[in-house]
Amino acid sequence: MITLTGFMGCGKTCTAQELNRLKGWDFIDLDKAVEKEAGRSIGQIFAEDGESGFRAIEATALARIISENRVKLLSLGGGTLTSPESARLVHDRTTCIYLRASIETLVYNLTMWPEDRPMLKDLPDRETLVRRVEQLMEERERIYERTAHIIIDIDGKEYGEIAEEIARATEKSGQ
Ligand code: S3P
Repeated sequence: MITLTGFMGCGKTCTAQELNRLKGWDFIDLDKAVEKEAGRSIGQIFAEDGESGFRAIEATALARIISENRVKLLSLGGGTLTSPESARLVHDRTTCIYLRASIETLVYNLTMWPEDRPMLKDLPDRETLVRRVEQLMEERERIYERTAHIIIDIDGKEYGEIAEEIARATEKSGQ
């Protein structure tokens, strides 16, 4: 199984959709699986159970999907790997690809395509968004880099190009 990781707004889901088109790989989006498992939206889970409640459901869904091993591709949530157990599982049991983006690209994408993202709530202007992304990135960058087997720099690239790069890199690594 191949997993896609990276910060919110790096395009994990769009890249998974491109890989599905390009290579026919079936995929699961972990955020969607969590919503299905909980019968609630991510926003609702955060509001009712807090981040730790969300992480618990997320870790359970991740472990189940990896052990079932039914799909080729799994796009993770931006914070999935902050659970050390989940990071270990992803590293040991999947080929993990980190879609690495600059803060500028992330902030651009997050602003252009806003979604319900509880980790980025109540940020009144661009400057506070930049600071929050920088702060979370500082906490997470090493985890992404340590967990991933392949790193793809995505700044300035189309999703199609990124998907092709992933297809080449995984072919090389025998996936
Ligand atoms: C989160 C990222 C989100 C989602 C949740 C928490 C995070 O997924 O799992 O809102 O902590 O970075 P995306 O990276 O798909 O936006």
